[in-house]
Amino acid sequence: MTKRVAIFASGGGSNAVKLMESMQGDHPAMPALIVTNQPNAGVIQQAERFGVACEVIDHKPYAGDRAAFETEIQNRLIPYQIDMICLAGFMRVLTAGFTDHWSGRMLNIHPSLLPKYKGLNTHARAIEAGDKRAGCTVHEVTAELDDGPILGQISVPILSGDAPAKLAARVLVQEHQLYPAVLKRFATGDKTPIMRKT
Ligand code: GAR
Repeated sequence: MTKRVAIFASGGGSNAVKLMESMQGDHPAMPALIVTNQPNAGVIQQAERFGVACEVIDHKPYAGDRAAFETEIQNRLIPYQIDMICLAGFMRVLTAGFTDHWSGRMLNIHPSLLPKYKGLNTHARAIEAGDKRAGCTVHEVTAELDDGPILGQISVPILSGDAPAKLAARVLVQEHQLYPAVLKRFATGDKTPIMRKT
């Protein structure tokens, strides 16, 4: 059975676009829903462009009550009969209540070579540390932030004089390759990691 995927994004959604583009033809998954917590997120227009339903759930009225925010997300997901979730630049921390419910059925992309640089400002931290390489990771989501089994990783060189934005752009190109490739495998039950260097 084709897996029905909900993609969660907070921004422009370039990864969401690549995932939606990839789920065509005899792909084992299909994009059933976009979820965003940002009422002005560019990903909303992208969902429209692809004819994919979009639920906007602004986190701000919940004033830090993460459990109530997540209950609303769960309720909004119900009609779409979602099988799995892809976090794609979703910039809210999810509690164990949510991650446990979706355990084994939720992926995330993170812009670093995990386990290095969990959290924010990954590229600046890699440059600051004098690292030779940076990259991106797709992993299963667990209750720990940016943790969970690694399903794929692509590394890129850090060049002399690199600024965080320049490095981020170089890594993003690889994110767009990695996430669809991992999703396609994962949707068939294959968790063999995809590990590449550029
Ligand atoms: C991507 O670089 C993604 O790896 C990162 O946000 C960006 C979203 O870009 N995710 C995180 O930092 C999660 N902690 P996009 O909206 O163009 O896909």
